[in-house]
Amino acid sequence: MSGWEHLLRPPLLEVGAYRPGPSLDELMARHGLEAVDKLNWNEGLWGPLPGVLDAAAGALGDTWAYPEHAYNTLREAIARETGARPDQVLPGHGIQALILTLVNAFIEPGDRVVVPAPTYGLYAQACRVAGAQVETVESPELAIDVERLAAAVRRTAARMVWVCDPNNPTGLRLAPDEWDALLRAVGPDCVVVADEAYMDYVPPVARVRREEDVAEGRRVVVLRTFSKIFGLAGLRLGYALADPRLVHWLHRVQEPFNVNRVALAAGLASLGRPAEVAERRAVAVAARERLAAALGAGGMRPVDSSANFVLAELGVDDGELTGRLVRRGILVRPGTELGLPGWARITVAPDDVMDRAAAALLDVRAELLGAEARAAS
Ligand SMILES: Cc1ncc(COP(=O)(O)O)c(C=O)c1O
Repeated sequence: MSGWEHLLRPPLLEVGAYRPGPSLDELMARHGLEAVDKLNWNEGLWGPLPGVLDAAAGALGDTWAYPEHAYNTLREAIARETGARPDQVLPGHGIQALILTLVNAFIEPGDRVVVPAPTYGLYAQACRVAGAQVETVESPELAIDVERLAAAVRRTAARMVWVCDPNNPTGLRLAPDEWDALLRAVGPDCVVVADEAYMDYVPPVARVRREEDVAEGRRVVVLRTFSKIFGLAGLRLGYALADPRLVHWLHRVQEPFNVNRVALAAGLASLGRPAEVAERRAVAVAARERLAAALGAGGMRPVDSSANFVLAELGVDDGELTGRLVRRGILVRPGTELGLPGWARITVAPDDVMDRAAAALLDVRAELLGAEARAAS
């Protein structure tokens, strides 16, 4: 019996699956682990804000009912939080779902799309599945090279360009003038999607104010999430900020009831608490600095991150190092999976975890360097 290939859309057959790395269950089973420090997926390791889980639990009695599909209360609360207008807010079950919504709305087979490298892998993957030709723009100094990005957009007459700011996996940010230069250079015939999944870790005064670009009707869509500083990755909640005229069209491709009631309740309970969010930010930044300092002192080269993770050049093989760390119950993301062999990305966590992870990283690295030196002598 033949398979399904002749019925599937051809671009799908050529695209590999999006790979976030092995699951926790797989790794625990494979290495016989009972507890792990999960520093490989950049979740918010301080968990939800106080009281949010009670609000989520309060919604469980209504699970028989579909959610309120206009999500008005959440949209108004997000508008108050961001300075946007409610009609500029499109909630979705995580940025991932919103990425697919945007691709579904804009991309036709053969369209050109520009994506920097390295960056979050789902942009290119989703566009390729839709049949787009993806132009990858390398970042020789790790930071997104705005001039090259804009040149690639113009050269290919791209329909869409993706920017992740702060970027995953580097943690590096775009300066406001770089962002403005990009918008000016790409012009009105290209959609610029800015994924701000990690922007909550940047102090508000230092942020590029993309909600103003949205308000001015520029071709900008901003993506934000509750998965990181709000600690709600498991509930799946995010939103787009976009021109209301575009939100109108995005509703046509978005699943009608795609945000669940429990996530709505948790999201609402998380908003309007700027002092607590600022406190979390300060704690995460301190943990990040603690980790970066330990890695630097141990001979690695950490990148100056603005997010809840640190990318570091190891000086040893990343597959070997992360494999040995797993056996010690510490999961970090090998750079090879991110297009950066010789590097690793480590999520920041409370101090005790950070200290344990940094000590193990240094120890394993020393083991590997020792083995290399013995092999060479
Ligand atoms: C840049 C970036 N965007 C989006 C996501 C996923 O966001 P969400 O949980 O809202 O789907 C991640 C998750 O790691 C990410 O790194």
